[in-house]
Amino acid sequence: MAKDHETLTASQFGAHAQAYVASSVHASGDDLEAIAALAAREKPARALDLGTGGGHVAYKLAQAARAVVAVDLSADMLASVTAEAKRRRLGNIETAQASAEKLPFRDADFDFLASRFSAHHWRDARQGLSEARRVLRSGAPAFFIDIVGPREVAFDTHLQTVELLRDASHVRDYSWGEWRDMLKHAGFDVIVESSWRLRMDFAVWTRRIGTPPPLAEAIRLLQEKADDATRARFAIEDDGSFWLDAAMFEARAV
Ligand SMILES: C[S@@+](CC[C@H](N)C(=O)[O-])C[C@H]1O[C@@H](n2cnc3c(N)ncnc32)[C@H](O)[C@@H]1O
Repeated sequence: MAKDHETLTASQFGAHAQAYVASSVHASGDDLEAIAALAAREKPARALDLGTGGGHVAYKLAQAARAVVAVDLSADMLASVTAEAKRRRLGNIETAQASAEKLPFRDADFDFLASRFSAHHWRDARQGLSEARRVLRSGAPAFFIDIVGPREVAFDTHLQTVELLRDASHVRDYSWGEWRDMLKHAGFDVIVESSWRLRMDFAVWTRRIGTPPPLAEAIRLLQEKADDATRARFAIEDDGSFWLDAAMFEARAV
């Protein structure tokens, strides 16, 4: 059966929507608090959460913004967000099923945007970031948070391979340089950059997206065969758990 990248991504995530609502890696973090603090300061009229997943950014934005639109490719993910927003009594979140690369909003429709741990799944991140810029008012704040790929090519190859084995919809963990270049090209000025490390518990990380056992086994084999430098770079543990680099770009639409 023919399937495009968007269908593949939506089905990968849709089947595990509740796991993303419940995921502690996604539900917490200083980055989430930074978004909440900036939203509290800016008090947006209309804020956009691009690639909302389990909706954790949208729930934070809803405490400060008049209206929040949570966008995702997956209808199942959005249904979970709607249910969770209701449970939290957040009445100002609406959802929209769309791809980041083709947003169903008019130019300058939003005055705040955040996108967290989603861009590495986009078929065309440059196009997604251009769309993000298009739907924002000039001068509006935008947060982009994602896993960043290492600058060293060998480590980068290891990371992208492991990510793809885990999740067939993985596209690319972009490097710092690639992120800066894409944001500039899309029309964003980066104001603050920060980074931190995230520990991926192997069993939790593969279960969350439903990695088939033979592919999880292939990741473990790859990790075992990796050279010492790669094992050290990702601090690979005996059970396959390892550490990733995450980055946050606080930007303004030029
Ligand atoms: C890891 S989850 C996002 C986590 C969430 N933003 C958070 O902070 O907890 C990635 C989400 O991006 C969505 N996604 C992937 N590609 C997309 C695209 N091109 N356009 C919109 N959403 C996309 C997936 O469906 C998935 O729900």
